[in-house]
Amino acid sequence: MLKKIDINSLSLSPFNVFDKDWFLLSAGNFKENDWNCMTVSWGFIGTMWNKPVAQVVVRPQRYTCEFMDKYNSFTLCAFPEKHRPALQLFGSKSGRNIDKKAGSGLCPIAATEVDAPIFKEADLVLECRKLFRLPMPEESFLDESLKKLYPADDYHIIYIGEVLTALTQ
Ligand SMILES: Cc1cc2nc3c(=O)[nH]c(=O)nc-3n(C[C@H](O)[C@H](O)[C@H](O)COP(=O)(O)O)c2cc1C
Repeated sequence: MLKKIDINSLSLSPFNVFDKDWFLLSAGNFKENDWNCMTVSWGFIGTMWNKPVAQVVVRPQRYTCEFMDKYNSFTLCAFPEKHRPALQLFGSKSGRNIDKKAGSGLCPIAATEVDAPIFKEADLVLECRKLFRLPMPEESFLDESLKKLYPADDYHIIYIGEVLTALTQ
């Protein structure tokens, strides 16, 4: 069962927690059944404006992006390895076209402090309040080779959220 923990007791490997383990990013309002989620592997957790924060980057064409903009919170959920196929599904199909939630086998539940849902099977949950949004300006890339990652000029939108609560099993 998920339980709140003191975020200061979290011990995570910065180069694994996003890149290798992946998170499920959820945004929207769970109670109103108006939400979506997608897999993310780029981002960081750290300190900004004297607050514990998580940063994610979302391409504008993602369905989840609509919910990131419409609502004031998001959650990040990490899962035990056995749920990797569900994360593959959430990271390869769009909620615009199919009901990913029904097909994933994962169980969304209400978060403790924010409107976006969390997942019962998660072994780490971060509930975040949106603080900052910035579409990456093309002229800000100092290494031109990075632009190859954006053949459709679909530069990510950066979202930084204050981590209000962390939960673990
Ligand atoms: C491992 C993995 C990591 C991903 N990381 C990101 C990411 O950080 N940002 C992003 O915009 N898309 C990322 N994606 C792609 C989205 O998860 C994917 O396009 C998803 O289908 C979008 O779903 P949606 O349209 O329902 O929002 C990732 C996909 C995978 C498989």
